[in-house]
Amino acid sequence: MQRRNLLDLDELEAGELRGLLDQAQRFGASPPRRDLLRDIIVVNLFFEPSTRTYTSFAIAEHLVGADVIALPPGSSSLGKGETIADTALTLAAMNVRVIVTRHPESGFPYRLAESFEGHVINAGDGCHAHPTQALLDLLTLRTEFGRVEGLRVALVGDILHSRVARSNILGLQALGAEVLLVGPPTLLPASMERGRVKVLRSLDDVLPHVDAVMLLRIQRERIAAAVLPELDDYARNYRMDARRLELLAPHAIVMHPGPYNRGVELTEEVFDFRGWRYAQQVAHGVSARMAVLDYVVNGLPVSPAPPRPESILV
Ligand code: NCD
Repeated sequence: MQRRNLLDLDELEAGELRGLLDQAQRFGASPPRRDLLRDIIVVNLFFEPSTRTYTSFAIAEHLVGADVIALPPGSSSLGKGETIADTALTLAAMNVRVIVTRHPESGFPYRLAESFEGHVINAGDGCHAHPTQALLDLLTLRTEFGRVEGLRVALVGDILHSRVARSNILGLQALGAEVLLVGPPTLLPASMERGRVKVLRSLDDVLPHVDAVMLLRIQRERIAAAVLPELDDYARNYRMDARRLELLAPHAIVMHPGPYNRGVELTEEVFDFRGWRYAQQVAHGVSARMAVLDYVVNGLPVSPAPPRPESILV
């Protein structure tokens, strides 16, 4: 059997993705057994700052009973010229079974997974992927609407540099949601339009027609100064504020993966909006990550076999 990693959501069949969300929902309703990952050593190898993702993984690992080692950024020997393959070998020799990693380079967790004899979970690589964030976002939608299928979801802002957007597009599509990408051409090239994923420029036109809006941070650290939009311009066209909240349908919700920049992608009025779901997203992060840890180590729970017809029993 193949070693299970979670590098991005495109490696999961839609059925597996649903199974993972079911498990996360169960863990959210009642905490899992503390021995799910007993005697399993997990290393958190983060090379980029992180508040939410790091803490949420640490809590999830604790709740499933793993033995957790955090390797603070700058303290691994990768900085001393050790190759990824040698780091992987070294950690495996100490019986490390799971590595949770975040890295500024797109593809880093994939290279690590090639040489590591255990499970790799991607906690964010460059502009590429952030599968556990997408899972917690899907979980938030599912909890709110009872399904993801058929929802119309707008992702707003810096789609081009957002690993959160990329993984969400995969997950939303796999589960049958309609995805609208909204932003300026510098942060959202028209070429990102594909199949049921539409590229649109006017946020005001989109808002009345969506079930959920996902606001994204402008990823300044990944953008050349020459294409960084004027923040005034950006705010005028894409910032969620009191007037834009009014345009939403009564049932619509507003999400943000955090960290958010007040005054840039949203104003403080959003925090009082009835449909603001940021805190729920953060809470779902812990159950989603418990489910992912359980999935890579133990696999998905097998659904009970259907009862056999009586005629076969006699
Ligand atoms: C995001 C990330 O780091 O990719 N944050 C997160 O994990 N919740 C988004 C961001 O940095 O803007």
